[in-house]
Amino acid sequence: MTTPPTRRVVVAPSLLAADFGRLREEVGSVTQAGADWLHFDVMDGHFVPNMSFGPLVLQALRPHSTLPFDVHLMITPVDPFVTAFAEAGADHILFHPEAGPHPHRTLQLIRSLGKKSGLALSPGTPIESIAWLLELADIVLVMSVNPGFGGQRFLASQLPKIAALRRMIDAGGRQIALAVDGGIAPETAAQVVVAGADTLIAGTAVFGTADRSAAIDALRGGSPQTGTLACRA
Ligand code: DX5
Ligand code: ZN
Repeated sequence: MTTPPTRRVVVAPSLLAADFGRLREEVGSVTQAGADWLHFDVMDGHFVPNMSFGPLVLQALRPHSTLPFDVHLMITPVDPFVTAFAEAGADHILFHPEAGPHPHRTLQLIRSLGKKSGLALSPGTPIESIAWLLELADIVLVMSVNPGFGGQRFLASQLPKIAALRRMIDAGGRQIALAVDGGIAPETAAQVVVAGADTLIAGTAVFGTADRSAAIDALRGGSPQTGTLACRA
């Protein structure tokens, strides 16, 4: 049996847990601290029972970081807002497939704008629902809490789902990032990486600590370069 090649776990701090009165400084802090992407949780008070921010906030922050902006849309409808987020500076646009009648078309729209496309799965959404969408997806995000709020407890029930998605992605032979979002801290990060995730979204575990660099390293498994949790390439 050969050992699979490894690469570093991607860490994307979620700005939902940042100090909204100092967003520019918060973005600078995690950019300096070694974050790989910045995760933006967009909520409409309709698809989820909370509201956050829209494209104008992305646009205002865009000059203050060179990191990819990973935009998690928790909104319905999705399609009328995709172009606005793309123009505001999003690099990745993710949405929930149940938020619109034609998720395949939404993926086409995101790709047509030159952006990476992603699908977000709520805890109750089965992986089979996206089997015929993977051909157009660059990222699949498994939510390990119900969408709408930061600081919730990690749902271990999602671990077998992550493992099943890993198998589905590998079977298709596609380069698709497998992200996990919700309740990610060093201990749960280790669990989801073992299950097959390669990308960690974390709000409270990064912005809730003063030393963001140490927090990001801890999510990667202790090492800023490789990490003991290095996942499969
Ligand atoms: C929840 C959001 C998550 C959330 C994660 O709807 O999608 O990105 O901000 O926050 P923590 O890491 O605090 O669970
Ligand atoms: Zn999110």
